[in-house]
Amino acid sequence: MRIKQLPIHLANQIAAGEVIERPASVLKELLENSIDAGAKHIDLDVEKGGIKGIRITDDGCGIAREDLALALSPHATSKLYSQEDLFNIQTLGFRGEALASIGSVARLQLISCQSAEQGAWGISMTGHSSGEVVPMPHPLGTTVSVEDLFFNLPARRKFLRSEKTEFIQLEETFRRIALSHFALSLVFKHNQRLIYQLPAALDKLTQEKRIAKIFGKSFLQHAMQIEFAMTGLKLWGWLGLTSHTRSQADLQYVYLNGRMIKDKLVNHAIRQAYENKLYPGRYPLFVLYLELDPTTVDVNVHPTKHEVRFHESRLVHDFIYRNLKSVLTQHDGLPQNMTPSAERSEPYMSMPQPISQIKEPMAAYQSSSMMPLGWLHDKYWLAQHADGLLMLDVQQAVLLIHYAALLNKINAKPLLMPVVKNLSEAQVQSIEALAETFHVLGLQLASLSPKQIILRGIPANFYRLDAASLLNELCAAELAPNLSQSELIWVLAKASSHAVNVNQLEPQQLISKLEDLSAQATELNIKPMVVLNLQELAKIIAR
Ligand SMILES: Nc1ncnc2c1ncn2[C@@H]1O[C@H](COP(=O)(O)OP(=O)(O)OP(=O)(O)O)[C@@H](O)[C@H]1O
Ligand SMILES: [Mg+2]
Repeated sequence: MRIKQLPIHLANQIAAGEVIERPASVLKELLENSIDAGAKHIDLDVEKGGIKGIRITDDGCGIAREDLALALSPHATSKLYSQEDLFNIQTLGFRGEALASIGSVARLQLISCQSAEQGAWGISMTGHSSGEVVPMPHPLGTTVSVEDLFFNLPARRKFLRSEKTEFIQLEETFRRIALSHFALSLVFKHNQRLIYQLPAALDKLTQEKRIAKIFGKSFLQHAMQIEFAMTGLKLWGWLGLTSHTRSQADLQYVYLNGRMIKDKLVNHAIRQAYENKLYPGRYPLFVLYLELDPTTVDVNVHPTKHEVRFHESRLVHDFIYRNLKSVLTQHDGLPQNMTPSAERSEPYMSMPQPISQIKEPMAAYQSSSMMPLGWLHDKYWLAQHADGLLMLDVQQAVLLIHYAALLNKINAKPLLMPVVKNLSEAQVQSIEALAETFHVLGLQLASLSPKQIILRGIPANFYRLDAASLLNELCAAELAPNLSQSELIWVLAKASSHAVNVNQLEPQQLISKLEDLSAQATELNIKPMVVLNLQELAKIIAR
């Protein structure tokens, strides 16, 4: 077969296939263009979920008359001129593809005015043909109208969902972008009905008003405003506490230098910070802004630009993980009866149950009738039970067993290899102040030098654990020097449950131990084990 150069409109349509999936993707590209143009205000009119039309008007820098046709051509951009620019991207767009792609699969009109002297000019593109540049009335700024998406690609149009579904997607894109640029004022109408009117939010108060409109008022009552920085890296935003979670991970917004991202590394760091603090099936809420030097991240990784590549991925991961974890540990780390701060409105363990019909745990699971099914993500152990499916959260089980063990007097078991850790002087002093209490609990932890601590022994009846991880977990908990013994028991039990090597545990043995710990489980409101009967499973599957 011979090789042929693709006609330009076909190449555009192929490019559109990568980024223009539905009206919401058109909206994202148009909003990003307006933001890149320095708009302060954007008016958005959408018809029939965006399938019929999307019109966006901004007061940005506009496009010169002689550049209008170029703006609709592929690989034409004002945001990137050289290879060096590609590694220092400061704008949301840079591929010079979006308008050409949209114009190849819809009816597009672009009108722009850069200065009163030049006047306003417009150009249209329908599928593969673009018209003449003609004078049009328009104030300073740009309007882009996109109608009849996929009118010339019936196969793609067939994949569009109902007006309602497409509108939900559009709204989601709008909400994400609205929280990416607080200084921008936005008006959003659907079928001529006002949906959002967001004034510019230049101070924290108005920013929180905008967040409340998008995340709901209760979010801020259960969120911490955070801000952390180190050389070249900053993380700020609002972090939802574990007392307020959702059954879906839909209110989790993350931005990198003003760009909304759905990046695996960043998500992993956040997920890890929340690990073991949430019931299975519950998801936290957060709006987080990561800022770093654009030369240290590659955003040219994926056509939709949702994924990025950090040059120092480990550093970024740890920076996010450690800071978020320390906030969550401080605010959620203690059960209600040990709560250090008066402002907490909900008890630590008040998280909603993942499944309302969960049975009372512990009692009546004689283990001989169980058939092990295996491990799930090294976290849950599953077994067939006479009633249905038994699920054991192994870390929670260890937490409870260690907690109960610590309530009794315990001896220390010396470590074969003591572990040393460098800390700040203040941290070493806090640990020194707690050494006596730790000793009573069987943890031989002491200062080695003004900036070093040493762990020599751990409680004898703890399950086998990684001593270095235990020490890291304890230090991450940022121990206050005046913690009481009961508070330390909780912290130590929790830290040790994170440090156990889950694979080396015997789940059936854990289950038999849990049977004697119903009282402690109720006191702490922990349910490490549930059994779903067959009717409950059928309901979940049918949901
Ligand atoms: N609302 C706007 N205001 C001013 N200029 C605009 C606007 N929209 C588009 N442009 C101009 O048109 C050019 C092409 O836009 P297009 O979205 O196709 O590419 P891009 O934004 O450069 O890159 P990407 O394909 O990554 O979005 C832009 O580089 C910009 O110069
Ligand atoms: Mg663009």
